[in-house]
Amino acid sequence: MSINIAIVPVAGQGTSVLPLTKSQPKEMLAVGRKPVVQYVVEELARSGIERILFITSNGKSSIEAHFDIDEQLIQYLRETGREPNLAELDYERQNIEYFYTRQRRQLGLGHAVLCAQPLIGREPAVVALGDSIIGRNGDSRIVQRMISAFETQHADAVIAIEEVAADQVNQYGIVTAANPDGEFLMLTGAVEKPALDSAPSNLSIAARYVFNSTVYDALQRVEPDTNGLIQLTDAIELLIQDGAKVIGVKLGNQTKRYDIGGFDSYFKTFIDFALTDPEFGATLREHVQTILTSNESEG
Ligand code: UTP
Repeated sequence: MSINIAIVPVAGQGTSVLPLTKSQPKEMLAVGRKPVVQYVVEELARSGIERILFITSNGKSSIEAHFDIDEQLIQYLRETGREPNLAELDYERQNIEYFYTRQRRQLGLGHAVLCAQPLIGREPAVVALGDSIIGRNGDSRIVQRMISAFETQHADAVIAIEEVAADQVNQYGIVTAANPDGEFLMLTGAVEKPALDSAPSNLSIAARYVFNSTVYDALQRVEPDTNGLIQLTDAIELLIQDGAKVIGVKLGNQTKRYDIGGFDSYFKTFIDFALTDPEFGATLREHVQTILTSNESEG
């Protein structure tokens, strides 16, 4: 049976975008018309995922509510002549079963993934970060390609890879590969947020992973970083050191990773999605052009 379960960690505190995240989850921030995590779930559904295990924490219950079937709202829309709006709730009826467990202390992404172990057991699983969209409108097929690589290459782990600009390597997990231009990159190392001058490459880990159960053993052996956090990237490095087969699959040339890890990337992501909105994108582009032209003439 092909992999059909995904772990979606959403338990982080989102401190980089305070005060937006004081009382709402970072993963529920709007990007265009939808909250970030809805793009993630829709992408997974299109990739054949049928079960999603969210790793949640205090203050994240609006994520659970977002994926509930809201009969009251549906009835209200019908009774008040707002049937056209019903289509906006179609995502509630995707062929997905949802499960939730809590990360009771925010000890890092690696620790969040480890919280899935008692529920997932020995089953291989996708990991998809709840704060990162892959492709405009989440339309990427990367997870499908990764599942297929995991199966055909008999890999222990498959990591999505995006090439980033040299001045961004300190924001991501960075990997090295024996064959950086191959279809399946044979990974030889992984390091979390290296300094700009010591980064081993510009191949960044792009928020999607497939793991077999050896990752939990590696996560249990990872030493906390200087901030006391268990990093998933460090577990990948341990897997590689153990001799596990860890493969990288690059995002397509036209496919971007959109994350909302900070205001800079959040603003850019929102603008990208809003400017291409099928209904309002054209007028918004005109609006932005007017602002930019008037600023230039003022300057
Ligand atoms: P980040 O490190 O970007 O999220 O993790 P964060 O911890 O919320 O970031 P700060 O506070 O702004 O620096 C990427 C994904 O992993 C989840 C986050 O919710 C996010 O979706 N995560 C992170 C956890 O589930 N648990 C953690 O302990 C850390």
